[in-house]
Amino acid sequence: MMDEQRMDGSSGGAPHAAAEPVNGPLDTMAAEYVIRDPRTPMPWMNYLFNDTYCALVSATGGGYSFQRCARDRRLLRYRLNNLPADRPGRYFYVRRRDTGAYWSAGWAPVQRGAPDGCFECRHGLGYTCIRHQQKEVDQEILYVVPRNADLELWRLRLTNRAPRAVALSVFSYAEFCLYQAEHDLSNFQYTFNIARCRALGSVIQHETWTRRYGLFTFQASSLPPVGWDCDREQFMGTGRGEHAPRAVEQGACTNSTCLHGNPIAAFQVDFELAPGETREWVLALGFAEQPQEDTAARLAAPWLQPGAVERALREVRAHWQEQCEHFVVETPDAGMNTVLNGWHPYQAQTTFRLSRGPSIYEGGIRRGLGFRDSCQDTLGVLHAEAPAVRRRLLQLAANQFVDGRSRHQFFPLSGQGAEDHCWDTHLWLVLALCAYLRETGDWDLLAEEAPFVDGDPAPVAAHLAAAVDFSLAHLGAHGLPRLGRSDWNDCLQLPGPNGGAESVFIACQLAGALRELAALAAQRGAVEHARHRLEQAEELSARINAVAWDGEWYARAFDDYGRAVGTSGNAFGRIFLNAQTWSIMAGVAAPERARRALAAVARWLDSPFGPRLLNPPWEEFDPAVGALSDMPAGLKENGGVFCQAVAWAVIAAAQAGAAEQAWRYYRQLLPGHAVRPAAYEAEPYVYAQMIIAPPHPRAGTARNSWLTGTAA
Ligand code: NOJ
Repeated sequence: MMDEQRMDGSSGGAPHAAAEPVNGPLDTMAAEYVIRDPRTPMPWMNYLFNDTYCALVSATGGGYSFQRCARDRRLLRYRLNNLPADRPGRYFYVRRRDTGAYWSAGWAPVQRGAPDGCFECRHGLGYTCIRHQQKEVDQEILYVVPRNADLELWRLRLTNRAPRAVALSVFSYAEFCLYQAEHDLSNFQYTFNIARCRALGSVIQHETWTRRYGLFTFQASSLPPVGWDCDREQFMGTGRGEHAPRAVEQGACTNSTCLHGNPIAAFQVDFELAPGETREWVLALGFAEQPQEDTAARLAAPWLQPGAVERALREVRAHWQEQCEHFVVETPDAGMNTVLNGWHPYQAQTTFRLSRGPSIYEGGIRRGLGFRDSCQDTLGVLHAEAPAVRRRLLQLAANQFVDGRSRHQFFPLSGQGAEDHCWDTHLWLVLALCAYLRETGDWDLLAEEAPFVDGDPAPVAAHLAAAVDFSLAHLGAHGLPRLGRSDWNDCLQLPGPNGGAESVFIACQLAGALRELAALAAQRGAVEHARHRLEQAEELSARINAVAWDGEWYARAFDDYGRAVGTSGNAFGRIFLNAQTWSIMAGVAAPERARRALAAVARWLDSPFGPRLLNPPWEEFDPAVGALSDMPAGLKENGGVFCQAVAWAVIAAAQAGAAEQAWRYYRQLLPGHAVRPAAYEAEPYVYAQMIIAPPHPRAGTARNSWLTGTAA
């Protein structure tokens, strides 16, 4: 049934009557994706965020939260790769006091009752609303992160649909993370012994690290609770999971404090509902630094007033409507318009803020903001958020070394970063910055100073020059830029004793960057400098054409031993998509070569799900190409449909005038529009990083959705 669900809320033959939208009429600016079967093949997530606070929420309430840094300020826990999946989350349990029957207001985690048409989740831009009817009680949960506060709001509405009164106990549940997410996962001998959480009336305060670092999370209730729990094991009982907490089963919280173990916030509120009556309960879960005695109450109070959640929702919707209006596309296809004018900009904003870290595929621990990724991400939001892009570009420049290379990633809160010796990374700064200048005309940025990681502040213009000069100074035997550990393709590694592997991808990227700098210099009237950069670009292009053209397409690289990778002479990886697309995008390929390269792409790389990254894929591990050959054939970098690379294929084909080919690839990718096989599995409203390709037996399955360069 999942593959039949559509962006406009219709469900392609599913047996449910279309329900009225909860929060207002559907329109292209308020694109809501409607899910009527909670048993999604993967957790189907939404990201609710403002500039500092972020909550990931699935269609049944699963997911985690953090403030500013997913590694260092993780507020709610999520057990990645858990069975069952998607635990824990932001839950409400509802229990009938007469019979003791209980269930979850958002279906999970109790999962009681067939999902027989009485479930509906609406993921919107900045909010998620779940409705679920059970035992003649209508439940509606709204989750929203207000625009300007470090908190998230949960609003539960209960309506009694029975002709008689009903007495209910309702329990809320949130499981706290002990702030540093890696520590929280691995150092129990310590973390369990520092955990602290207590209730103070209508507020539960998570105080682990409050004394030492001033970190503080709270949850505040709009209704006076009749009970609470702050200790997970006391609430759950021995040997149980989220699906059957003992406190819920027995109908009473234990009023526990947590001074060891796992802190939670669980409130119990009792309701008597007359026939037809609706009652509302609001919870505010938030973060503060250096709290005072009254911090939680002060921060929560405005959000617990009647109408406050509705106002927050209105502001969130207005914000995203404004953001989406910067670029509006009208096509004859309503589904396509909804994606282009809603989910695309939203996904691009999400990746711009979060890079590739916090998702259900990446735990938000290993890496902060990727340098290469963040440069790419600026392109997707530039038209709507130029000031934020400017700030990010300066932050990125400050992660560059004096010699022109850059860190590969850095953590936004601590500034901690790491290098990865991928020698494409620094060049993305040139491409991103020039795009920014072209869009805004903000030439002053060139004179603005940013520090180097290992040196004094220097004008941005000097950072750009350093980036291209590093690559020009590190050429290999064929005169192409050296690869380092790898390039955009993290998994294409060409090791050897001299580290002399060369990348055709980086060569094209460098040629493109040099042309950008030439255009920039010309625009600024620096004619000589413009000529110099253009000559460098042309020399490099000529070299690429001389050494990398294999007859019908461009080779991808040369390894440390001078052997070509991605040519007709190779048994595996005979042709790579990126070498063809980037030679066109960077103006390296003359029209005839562009035409032949694209024809080779169509002939050797096309699949029913989009063009593959390479073909044929490796069947066995090959130390000569490294990590990509670890992957089964057809997966990710080993010949999967790598969606960001497909986006480049769309651009390259369009640039070369191959309109039909560009359109074909575009349609194959477009969320909410492409025909998805049941095997697709990931969220249909956003791009995924990759779709598995033949010959893999699960061809058509998508993974690593949301945080992908495809969005930009
Ligand atoms: C995902 C990484 O985040 C990105 O930087 C890289 O370019 C792609 N994988 C391809 O390997």
